[in-house]
Amino acid sequence: MKSCKLSWSLVVVLSIIVALLGYKFIVGEVQPSDDGRQAVMLTKDERNALLLEMRNWLQNSQAILAASSDKDFAAVVMAAKASGMAAEANTPGSLFRKIPVEMKTLGFGTRSKFDEIAADAEQYKDSARTISKLSVAMNNCIACHATYRFIEKTQ
Ligand code: HEC
Repeated sequence: MKSCKLSWSLVVVLSIIVALLGYKFIVGEVQPSDDGRQAVMLTKDERNALLLEMRNWLQNSQAILAASSDKDFAAVVMAAKASGMAAEANTPGSLFRKIPVEMKTLGFGTRSKFDEIAADAEQYKDSARTISKLSVAMNNCIACHATYRFIEKTQ
């Protein structure tokens, strides 16, 4: 009887932990920002890692445009893949519970759009298609920047 009570308490405690982790996964570590956006609260290293990824996205977007205009599709594929899912390995794991779920969805959606740009360029070798797909992908940049910012937590 005693051990039965103990296992029920364990179930309750574990359920609470799972619920809290699930809650964190969905809402993330977010505060309203005075510029009307949502501020995602990060450590210095996490913020730096994400901003580096952002600069890579910008650089690869420019590289895709330059390579499309030169009709160099091997270079389009390389730059697009460098922004795709494979690059997710560089993202610190601690961000998993800090970034709200809508933002994660937008981020992964952007990565998969770059993978689509790579696959499309490999198959069709058509600059107009590449440029049109990049312009659609870049709507994700705009949507996320309009909604979120990063703030470094000092402690
Ligand atoms: C999932 C959300 C999200 C997506 C998608 C996203 N960004 Fe960002 N990006 C941010 C946030 C948040 C910041 C920080 C803005 C702030 O704190 O004011 C940022 C900052 C940047 C910066 C500034 C980097 C620095 O060193 O200060 C650049 C450049 C940038 N993004 C480029 C891009 C490009 C290009 C794309 C699309 C290919 C993109 N971002 C897509 C969220 C996103």
